Amino acid sequence: MVLISCVTFLSFLQLSVSNQLIVEMPPTDTIEDESYVCRSIPFENIEKGYLESIQIDVDRSRVHHVATSVCEMPISKEIWECKETQGSNCVGSSAGFGGWDRYTNDKGVFEFPDDLSLELGSQTSMKYLVFQVHFSGKQINQTKPAATLTLNISDKPRKYNFQGYLMGSRGFIPSNSPKGYYSNIACEWKLPGVKAFRYRMHTHHAGYHVEAFLVRNGTWTLLGSGSPQAKAKNWFEIPGGNVNIRRGDILAARCLYINKEKTPIYFGMGDDNEMCLFGIEIGFHDKDKQHFAQELLCETESPTFQFKNFPGLLDYF
Ligand SMILES: *[C@@H]1O[C@H](CO)[C@@H](O)[C@H](O)[C@H]1NC(C)=O
Ligand SMILES: *[C@@H]1O[C@H](CO)[C@@H](O)[C@H](O)[C@H]1NC(C)=O
Ligand SMILES: *[C@@H]1O[C@H](CO)[C@@H](O)[C@H](O)[C@H]1NC(C)=O
Repeated sequence: MVLISCVTFLSFLQLSVSNQLIVEMPPTDTIEDESYVCRSIPFENIEKGYLESIQIDVDRSRVHHVATSVCEMPISKEIWECKETQGSNCVGSSAGFGGWDRYTNDKGVFEFPDDLSLELGSQTSMKYLVFQVHFSGKQINQTKPAATLTLNISDKPRKYNFQGYLMGSRGFIPSNSPKGYYSNIACEWKLPGVKAFRYRMHTHHAGYHVEAFLVRNGTWTLLGSGSPQAKAKNWFEIPGGNVNIRRGDILAARCLYINKEKTPIYFGMGDDNEMCLFGIEIGFHDKDKQHFAQELLCETESPTFQFKNFPGLLDYF
């Protein structure tokens, strides 16, 4: 159901300073209380650039969160209702980065770490900016933009190019787990070496703890851990600093849940579902580009998948 009428600002795309791009989500009327609206914008005036930071200014009274990405070919060239298309707004290459949500106190500033930037532009595989605004509350007769994004784009690449790595659970959390249940996720790294920068975590209300490790030859190195309910920040530093991931390493993550109910909780997108997500900012070398056209996913099934059944993790469990 695409039931959006929009007043499009003609001034939507301005190139002010040479490497600054400012885009808006113009006032849009929405039908439902909770709605997701997406907009795609081509990088017409930038052939090849390197995104270093983004400032996201929102009308906090109307916006729940903003998701930002770049991609090769969006499914729409304008503004569309995108609740149903979440996760499939593009065809071809894509990379999600940064973003804003109302629980964080980062003032809307997202900066890639030193050494990391994101290649984009009309002469690259990331030809469009695609962003999504999750509105809280029905939007009627608004006159101001809901969100304004300011991208700082450099002419010079940094040492590493950005892509996301996302670890997640499928399946379910068993019923009657009052003492806690861990969903386990693990994958072997089969690609060229990369650097891991920062991490983020996400569960819904039954999740109490998330942690992830890099396992190399039986040695477990902590990549990150914490309470998914602590939402003051989106991105956290890896405790021991940036980590190199090499071919043959194993990435392992787990989430702790308490489910006192007599019914299982299924993993999924809905409000009644749970999630176990551990995301990592990955930096790859330009020569390895073909392996990193899209976000990398590591997904395993709960409760059937267990660390103790995974070769390379046996020693520990
Ligand atoms: C973008 O660049 C401008 C000008 O150099 C700077 O003032 C601003 O803080 C930068 N924005 C972010 C989000 O880093
Ligand atoms: C929106 O604007 C229309 C036309 O000006 C008006 O009839 C309507 O009452 C307004 N709705 C709200 C909720 O303000
Ligand atoms: C892993 O450990 C074994 C036994 O200590 C050692 O022989 C091997 O060289 C190690 N492999 C790597 C990749 O470090």
